[in-house]
Amino acid sequence: MRSYLERCCKIVDAALDQYLPKATDRPATIHHAMRYSLFAGGKRLRPVLCLAAAEACGGEETAALPAAAAVECLHTYTLIHDDLPCMDDDDLRRGKPTCHVEFGEGIAVLTGDALLTIAFEILAKTPPSSRYGVADYVIELATASGSRHLIGGQVVDLEGEGLDVVISPAQLRYLHESKTAALLACSLRLGAMSAGASAEQVESLTTYGQAMGLAFQIIDDILDVTQTSEKLGKSAGKDEAAAKSTYPALFGLEESRQEADRLTKKAHMALEPLGDRALRLHQIADFLLVREY
Ligand code: IPE
Ligand code: IPE
Ligand code: MG
Ligand code: MG
Ligand code: MG
Repeated sequence: MRSYLERCCKIVDAALDQYLPKATDRPATIHHAMRYSLFAGGKRLRPVLCLAAAEACGGEETAALPAAAAVECLHTYTLIHDDLPCMDDDDLRRGKPTCHVEFGEGIAVLTGDALLTIAFEILAKTPPSSRYGVADYVIELATASGSRHLIGGQVVDLEGEGLDVVISPAQLRYLHESKTAALLACSLRLGAMSAGASAEQVESLTTYGQAMGLAFQIIDDILDVTQTSEKLGKSAGKDEAAAKSTYPALFGLEESRQEADRLTKKAHMALEPLGDRALRLHQIADFLLVREY
C-alpha cells in the first residue's frame, strides 16, 4: 500500500509540475507561492482516489491524470484560505509556515484564487470518455466545490464556532459532509467518469466517497485532539481553542472513533459491485482510518 501511494504521489507531482506555470514566470511571486503551497507535502489523497476510482472502473491512468491534478489544486486553494487569519488563523501547514505567513495575506488570497482557477483549466484537459465530456467534468467539480457543498460547509464551520448552544448532530454531519466529503466523492466520480463508468459504478463510488469522506473528517477532528503539531504538520489543538463544532466536541473521542469505524465498514460495502478492481479503494479506506496525520 505504501509503495502504491508513493507511486501515485510521484506521477501526480510530475503532472502538477508540468501543468503549473514555472516559479520564474511573471509575476514570479504568485507562481512561487502556488508551488510553495502545492509542493509543501500533503497526502495527495484526492488525486489518489481519482486514479484508484479510474482503475476500479477499468480506465487508463493517463486519462484520469488531469482530473487528479485538478482536484489537488482545488484542495490546496481551500487549505490556503482555510488557514487565513479571518478563517482558522493557522501558521503551520504541511509542515511549513502557511502561505500568508510566508507571502503575506494579500498574496495568499490571490494564490488560493489562482489555484482554484487553474484547477478548472487543468480539468478541461481531461479527455472525453465514452459517456462524459469536459462540460460534465466541469459541472462536477464546480458543484462539489461551490456554495452548496464545500464552501457551504466552510460557512457552517465558521458559523459553528464559539457557540453557546452546541450545533445538532444533523448539522454537524451536514458540515462535515459539505466541507470535506463532497470533494472526496467528487474526486472519485471524476476518476470514474474519465473511465467512462456506468451510472451504477459512479453511484457505488459516490456512496463509498460520502461514507469514507465523513470518516476522514471525523478522524481529522480526532487527530486535532490526540496528535502533536509536529506529526500533523499543522497546528494541533486548534479546534478546541477556537471552540469549533467537531465530532469529539459533540460525542467524545470514543464515540467519534466508533462512528468512523462504522462509516468505513459502510464504505467497504459500497464497493462490492465493483469487485476485485476496487482493491486499492478498500486499502485506502483502511489506511485512512488508522492514519496518524
Ligand atoms: C486537510 O486535508 C483538510 C481537511 C479536509 C481535513 P488533508 O488531510 O487531505 O491535507 P493534506 O492534503 O494531506 O495536507
Ligand atoms: C478544512 O477543515 C476543510 C477545508 C479546507 C475545506 P479543517 O479546518 O478541519 O482542516 P485543517 O484541520 O485546518 O486541515
Ligand atoms: Mg477550517
Ligand atoms: Mg483549519
Ligand atoms: Mg481539522
